[in-house]
Amino acid sequence: MDQVMQADHTTRTDAANETGDAMMTLLNQHLADTFDLYSEVKQAHWNVKGMHFMQLHLLFDDLAQTLLEYVDSIAERLTALGGVAMGTTRMVAAQSQLPEFPSDIVRDQAVVELLVQRYESYGSTIHEAINMAAGYDDAESADLFTQIAATIAKQRWFLAAHLHE
Ligand SMILES: [Fe+2]
Repeated sequence: MDQVMQADHTTRTDAANETGDAMMTLLNQHLADTFDLYSEVKQAHWNVKGMHFMQLHLLFDDLAQTLLEYVDSIAERLTALGGVAMGTTRMVAAQSQLPEFPSDIVRDQAVVELLVQRYESYGSTIHEAINMAAGYDDAESADLFTQIAATIAKQRWFLAAHLHE
């Protein structure tokens, strides 16, 4: 009887460890992607040019600030689960799934078009993360990803509204 209980306990612990490892990987992936998107939005904030310069310069800074808050929330959720946040510039560059922001794209419309693309692809990976976290019964991480997804959808709309003819 003791042996059966021990075996059962070991199995449950292994399953918990696997879930924990999967959540660390998932959260670190999104820490990297979110920090990288933050850096691309700042790149846009600094370099955008054209008739809508000031409006976009200010909008991009607001978007960047929001992303930076989510970087912090994701990293702290990771460490709350006992993981190690991989958040230096070099760690993020090695891990991010985002394409680089081309340094020759500076015209206002082209910059907005590029950011809309980034928000769409980032948003879709965040939606996948909601489902993965829920699948691992990590309701708090799923909730964090859900908050991020809602904000990103709204901010994608802010950006895309500039492209309406
Ligand atoms: Fe600035």
